[in-house]
Amino acid sequence: MHWIPHVNVGFRGLERIEDQTTMLTLETSRLVLRPWQDRDRAPFAVINTDEQVRRYYYPSVLTAMETDEMIDEINEQLAREPFGFLAIERKSDGALIGGGGLSRPGPEVPGNFPLEIGWILGRDYWRQGYATEVSHRWLEFAWRNLEAECVIGYTSSINVPSRCAMEKIGMRRVEDGDFDDTTVPVGNALRPHVLYRIDNPMR
Ligand SMILES: CC(C)(COP(=O)(O)OP(=O)(O)OC[C@H]1O[C@@H](n2cnc3c(N)ncnc32)[C@H](O)[C@@H]1OP(=O)(O)O)[C@@H](O)C(=O)NCCC(=O)NCCS
Repeated sequence: MHWIPHVNVGFRGLERIEDQTTMLTLETSRLVLRPWQDRDRAPFAVINTDEQVRRYYYPSVLTAMETDEMIDEINEQLAREPFGFLAIERKSDGALIGGGGLSRPGPEVPGNFPLEIGWILGRDYWRQGYATEVSHRWLEFAWRNLEAECVIGYTSSINVPSRCAMEKIGMRRVEDGDFDDTTVPVGNALRPHVLYRIDNPMR
């Protein structure tokens, strides 16, 4: 998945972002999904410097500055759109466990779909059902609030955890949907991608 909205936006200071307390917040039994705050920068930078977490991303690990830029761009997008890639905070201890949500697919993704779902969780938080929990909430939001026709997901073919996570939430691989992520160099194992999709059951 891609964390940067594919629209060029300028940097705006955190002050403005902090003012936007009315921006989207969602809740699940164990988690709060909310806009990114200044206190998330350090823990998210730690997550993004973990080679295991970033194993299926190109480029791989991010610097703290790159994580800051990511957070700024995500919050910019949240200010403009009624959905986004939210910070995920665990209710029991307030830990930032990662980020997850809806974004606009990049131009390299076939089909011109409007919404993709994705997650980046810290390694300590894997295999505890958090991606599933987050996804169910986001899909409910996509169906009820956005009245979306469908949500897609995509990842490099070799990203088994992500593919299994998509299947677990009811997404199905799109036949003939495989594509090369043109942002990844030719010959790199992360270039071949698979496409998954789930349709709005209410439509
Ligand atoms: C992919 C990722 C988000 C999954 O998050 P998670 O919270 O561990 O997923 P869940 O606990 O909800 O598990 C959902 C299902 O995914 C599958 N799954 C998750 N991790 C897996 C792994 N390492 N190997 C195989 N299957 C895995 C399982 O089918 C699991 O269901 P089960 O526990 O009933 O067997 C997490 O591994 C992650 O953040 N990875 C690094 C970032 C990344 O690659 N993001 C996706 C980019 S497209």
